[in-house]
Amino acid sequence: MIIAIPKETAPGESRVAATPASVKRLQSLGFDVVIEQGAGEAASFPDAEYEQAGAKLCANAAECLSQAGIVLKVQQPTDAELDLIPSGATLVAFLKPAQNEALLKKFADKNINALAVESIPRISRAQKMDALSSMANIAGYRAVIEAAHEFGRFFTGQITAAGKIPPAKVLVIGAGVAGLSAIGTAKSMGAIVRAFDTRPEVREQVESMGAEFLTVEIEEDGSGTGGYAKQMSKEFIEAEMALFREQAKEVDIVITTALIPGKPAPKLWLADMVETMAEGSVVVDLAAEMGGNCDFTEADKKVVKSGVTILGYTNLASRAATQSSTLYATNLCHLLTDMTPEKNGEIVINFEDEAVRGATVVKEGEITWPPPAPKISAAPPQKKPEPQIEVEPKPEKKSSPLSLVAFWAVAGLLLLALGKSAPADFVAHFTVFVLSIFIGWQVIWNVSHALHTPLMSVTNAISGIVIIGALLQVGATGSFLVTVMAFIAVLFASINIFGGFFVTHRMLKMFRR
Ligand code: NAI
Repeated sequence: MIIAIPKETAPGESRVAATPASVKRLQSLGFDVVIEQGAGEAASFPDAEYEQAGAKLCANAAECLSQAGIVLKVQQPTDAELDLIPSGATLVAFLKPAQNEALLKKFADKNINALAVESIPRISRAQKMDALSSMANIAGYRAVIEAAHEFGRFFTGQITAAGKIPPAKVLVIGAGVAGLSAIGTAKSMGAIVRAFDTRPEVREQVESMGAEFLTVEIEEDGSGTGGYAKQMSKEFIEAEMALFREQAKEVDIVITTALIPGKPAPKLWLADMVETMAEGSVVVDLAAEMGGNCDFTEADKKVVKSGVTILGYTNLASRAATQSSTLYATNLCHLLTDMTPEKNGEIVINFEDEAVRGATVVKEGEITWPPPAPKISAAPPQKKPEPQIEVEPKPEKKSSPLSLVAFWAVAGLLLLALGKSAPADFVAHFTVFVLSIFIGWQVIWNVSHALHTPLMSVTNAISGIVIIGALLQVGATGSFLVTVMAFIAVLFASINIFGGFFVTHRMLKMFRR
């Protein structure tokens, strides 16, 4: 089967659906690849590299598409492109099925199987094919870069001979994939970062990236199905607005990414908040395509209101075309690997495969969108509250003072007898032994988990002393029993030392890139 990659024709689209590296992977699945001349140019992938990778170059879209069994694209095809795709072929691209009923009908009429990459469910197994997340990750990064470009100050704070520079304050609204990526980027550039989201489960992720998670007084969980958000109550949105009005007085940069699937983007950064912001501040609205989170957002435009720049670029991923093409092409390779179980260059649209079922919007002339809800949610399952069973408190077992006195009296007598009969050396050693058990117990039980590695070094040092002591005893007394005990001591102390090194080595490996 031939995979065709035409040059993207949408204005401002610099991405390409295959890279020279992905062409090789597609060939290893048994496919032949044809690519339109100049398709990868805007993403810095020259034709020569595709040829070297084994792809055949086509002079134009007509030559490229007319031989296709599979068409890989970034944006949805134009009517002219659609006419060139042979009936029975399969198209994979961003197709916006929720807003594109007419296009789906055209695919069905022309018997073109269509897979919309944005419909791949966000389940663990399909993460490697999740082009929406790949693009949102890049968009979040790029949003910060665009904001930095417009912002007239540093992100990081500095103290210089010429004066003190305060760090920029960045607020990220919506901590999904794009939001988290923006938080990471802004933080690494030295800004003070705050974030807000309606899904409480993202709090930990936000905080682990070094940002402050803002909260409102009202408790309401914004988690919907499939790891996405749900629409919030009026009271919650009002509390959110009050929070943002306070933040507007302080923050320099706002990056909004809030979205509820299938709904217009909620208006969250209102006109009065923009007016409250200091001149020179920047708002980057990633939800511009769905109407925008900011009152002043205009899709694909830069707007300046009250000295505040509002960016509504809808194709931020395309502004980092090399990176986004690489990730997108890899996502497509994973999808096609799933669809080509025999690796024989023939795809199977298997509806038993949840990822393929989710993505398929038209199959054999039939519209199959929307897919059934994925069985596995990307969000962690909600914990059911434990049933409250009233248990009668058990009467605490208290040892009677009499038995306690008896215990200590017997122990004291035994120690006394031992001290009287045993040699003086033994008593000294025995005292050290009892004390070390007590101190060891206290040390190990009271050390927090984070300090177990230094604790391991201490136990290694102790084991070292044990080995030296045991080695000195081997053959020193001539007693077979002492030699055996010394040997056992050496064995156990060595296990402790080498085991410690082994565990430490494995832990360090986890942090190595
Ligand atoms: P996502 O669905 O993972 O994240 C959206 C986040 O917004 C969720 O965490 C959700 O809980 C949160 N949210 C919803 N309502 C909220 C509210 N009232 N207040 C605070 N947070 C709220 O989506 P993803 O993949 O992170 O994308 C984010 C946005 O970026 C989407 O609008 C997407 O269309 C857009 N996008 C834009 C691109 C561009 O070039 N401009 C490229 C890629 C994505």
